[in-house]
Parts: sequence; C-alpha cells; structure tokens
Amino acid sequence: MPERVNPNKAESQMTLASARSMSDDRQPGWFSRRTRMERYLMLAATTVVFVVVGLAISLAGVIYGYQSGMLKGSETSQLALISAEPLTACQETLPESPSEKCLTKGCVQAASKLIDSMDEAVNPCDDFFRFSCGGFLQKKIIPDEKSSLSRFNEISDDLQEKLRGLVEADPSDDDSPATKMVKNLYKSCMDTDRINERGLNPLKEILTQMGGWPVVEGSSWDSSAFDWHTNVYINRKLGYSLDYIFDFSVTTNIKNSTWRIIDIDQPPLGMPSRKYLLKGFNDSDVQAYYNYQISMAELLGADRETAERELKESLEFEIRSPM
Ligand SMILES: *[C@@H]1O[C@H](CO)[C@@H](O)[C@H](O)[C@H]1NC(C)=O
Ligand SMILES: *[C@@H]1O[C@H](CO)[C@@H](O)[C@H](O)[C@H]1NC(C)=O
Repeated sequence: MPERVNPNKAESQMTLASARSMSDDRQPGWFSRRTRMERYLMLAATTVVFVVVGLAISLAGVIYGYQSGMLKGSETSQLALISAEPLTACQETLPESPSEKCLTKGCVQAASKLIDSMDEAVNPCDDFFRFSCGGFLQKKIIPDEKSSLSRFNEISDDLQEKLRGLVEADPSDDDSPATKMVKNLYKSCMDTDRINERGLNPLKEILTQMGGWPVVEGSSWDSSAFDWHTNVYINRKLGYSLDYIFDFSVTTNIKNSTWRIIDIDQPPLGMPSRKYLLKGFNDSDVQAYYNYQISMAELLGADRETAERELKESLEFEIRSPM
C-alpha cells in the first residue's frame, strides 16, 4: 500500500481512499503478475504442504495412542476382565477405570460371570439391557421343569444343592443336636420303604390324639366333648401349628422394633388365596379342593356320602367366611 504523508488530514483520508482504488486498478497484485503455469504450480505446492502436515499430525496421534495403549495394556493385562476396552464414543465420557482393582478369586469369578452375561457387541447407548444382559439371553436355556430362569434361580438352586450335600452327609459326633435332628428328619423323609410300611397309622394316631376328624369318626364323633381351647392346647403340645381357629405368632412390634409382641390374627383359609373361594362352590378350582378333601377323608376311612355332605357344609362355611 503506497503511503503518502499529507499535512492535511481530511485531504489525506480522501487521497488514501483514492490511492487504494488506483493501486487496485493500475498495479496488478503479485499473484496476478505470475504466469498461468506459476499459479498452478503454487496451488499444487500449497495443497501438498497441507496434506503432508495433516498426515504428520494424524500419524503422531496414532503413534501416541498406540504407545499409551501398550503401556495401559501392560499395566492391566491381567485385568482385561474388569476394565473392558472403551467400546464406543459415549464411553469416552466415562471416568477412568478405578486404580484399585480386586483380583481375589471371588472377584475374578464374579467379573467373569458378569462379562459372560454381557453382549459387548451392543452399544450401551443404543440398548443398555442387551449390552448388560445379552450374553445371558443368548447362552441360557430355561430347563423343562422351570417356567423362568434368572441369576437368583441359579444362586438358589446352587444353595439347595449345597444344603442337600450337608443334610445327606452321615451324622457325626461333632454335629450339634439341631444338625443331628435335621439329618434324621431328612433321612426319615427319604426312607420311602419305611413310610409305605407304616402307611396311615402314624397319621391316624395323631388325629386321634387331636380329638379325631369328625367326618372320619362318623357317628362315634361326640361334639359335646369337643372344646376348642383344649384342641389348640393339644396341637401346641404335639408340635403342630395353632393357626386354625386363631392365627397366633410372636412378631416384631411395628411401633417399636426393639420389642417382640404376641400377634393374634384371623386364620388362613384352605386355598392359597381368598380370590379362589370368592368364585363360589361350582368353580373348577374350588371343586378340585372339595374333591381332594373327600379323597383324603375316604382314605382315612370316611363313608363317601357322609364325606360329600359334611365337607360341602364346611366348605360353604369357608366360602362365606371371607365375604
Ligand atoms: C422402644 O422400646 C425401648 C425398650 O423398651 C425403649 O427404650 C425405647 O425408648 C422405645 N422407643 C420408642 C420410640 O418408643
Ligand atoms: C352349582 O351347580 C349346581 C348344578 O350344576 C346348581 O344347582 C347350583 O345352584 C350351583 N351353585 C352355585 C353356588 O352356583
């Protein structure tokens, strides 16, 4: 830009403006003065420089990333289970994996189970459920005898198997009295030969001690000799539940959990829920319950007609109770 020093400021501004336009018109720029070939070469050279600089920056980035990755990898190679490689752009915003890592047997097993249940091919930002549980869905099959399967089922089944191992073991002198009783009880339940041999006799003896089941006793049942207080007392003494006339338990006081209180409540009904009984006597579930009662009474020696009549009366009483 040509500079003309002029004492008059206003004039100087005017001159500058006109000088600029003059220089544009009359003096072609340095670029305009180059030949066509020179211009093309310059354009090509500039492009090449940009490309080279860009490549150099990318390469540096890749090398740096590779080195720091290697470093990280060597530090945590054993921890591949726990610190999975970042999978997605969204994970880059997650905090660094914790510096303290648990490498005990239990932790490694737990981590392995977790990873086994995951589907790392799924982006957690797209479908977190599939990402965290996809592996479980793919690998697990619901066994025929089950309607569902979950981690809780698996843990519970595992526990049952362990418990079975414990109670099936032969009693030893080191066992506590409670453990010995559990082992004996389990053994007696599994001894089906002896159970079949004794048949219904133990049950009949117990029923007699309880005062007898009226439908089985038939005409020999003496209702005037029945006293419900005594019946509750006998049940208690024989070690059976009291929850027939009243539901009785010792429980935590909801008003002060440091106390235990005696809780007296209405007894449960014979079917799992009152909703069955509310469907009435002719409902198929209620009918199944009724037929079951009749079969039990018959097996214990009741007359079928008596059983049908009396058990219908008692069932109708039970149906009316929750209304
Ligand atoms: C609960 O019972 C304990 C023991 O009697 C008593 O010390 C405590 O003050 C009770 N708490 C309340 C909230 O009443
Ligand atoms: C049950 O069915 C019988 C005959 O099918 C009928 O006579 C009786 O009224 C029904 N009882 C109820 C409670 O619906």
